[in-house]
Amino acid sequence: MKKVTALFAVLFCSYITMSQSFADEGMPMDHQAMHHQHIMDDRVSLGLSPEMKQHQLSNMRSHVEAIKNIVGLIAENKFDDASKIAHDKLGLTPEMKAMCDMFDNEQFKTLGLTFHKSGDDLGDALKTKDVNKSLRALNTTMQYCVECHSTYRQ
Ligand code: HEC
Repeated sequence: MKKVTALFAVLFCSYITMSQSFADEGMPMDHQAMHHQHIMDDRVSLGLSPEMKQHQLSNMRSHVEAIKNIVGLIAENKFDDASKIAHDKLGLTPEMKAMCDMFDNEQFKTLGLTFHKSGDDLGDALKTKDVNKSLRALNTTMQYCVECHSTYRQ
C-alpha cells in the first residue's frame, strides 16, 4: 500500500511540474521549440482555389473510403470486388487523370499520376487473389498517400 501511495505521489508531482512548466510565461527552450514545430506547417502549398479545395477534399474522402472497403473485402476473400474498387476509385481513370492535370505543380501532378497507376497495380494484384501480394500492393499505394501528405498541403 505504501508503495502505491509513493508511486501516486511521484506521478502526481511530475504532473504538477509538467503543467506548471507549460503554464510558465518563459517556457524552457525545448518547450518553445516543440510549440513552434506544432504550429509551423512546412509543407508546399498548392495554392488552390476554394472550389478546387472542396473538390480535392471530397476526392480524398473517397480515397480513404476505397482503402477501407478494399481491406474489408480482402478479409472476406472478395478479391474481384476489391479489385474493381481499386481500379474504379484509386486507378488512373479519365476523371482522375483530368483532376491531376488541373494542378500547376508539376511534381505534385507526377506524384498524383504515379499514385493512381499504383491503384491500377493494386487492382491487378487483387485479381490474383493472393493475400500477401495484395497487401504488398496496398502498402505501396498507401505509401503514396503518406508521401504526398507529408510534402503538400492545399
Ligand atoms: C498526390 C498527393 C496526394 C495523394 C497521393 C493522396 N493525397 Fe490525400 N490529400 C492531399 C492533399 C494536398 C490534401 C490536403 C491536405 C492539407 O491541405 O492539409 C489531402 C487530404 C486528404 C484527406 C483529408 C480530407 C478532408 O476532408 O479533410 C484525406 C482523408 C486523404 N487526403 C486521404 C488520402 C488517402 C487515403 C490517400 C491514398 C489512398 C491519399 N489521400 C492520397 C494529397 C494527396
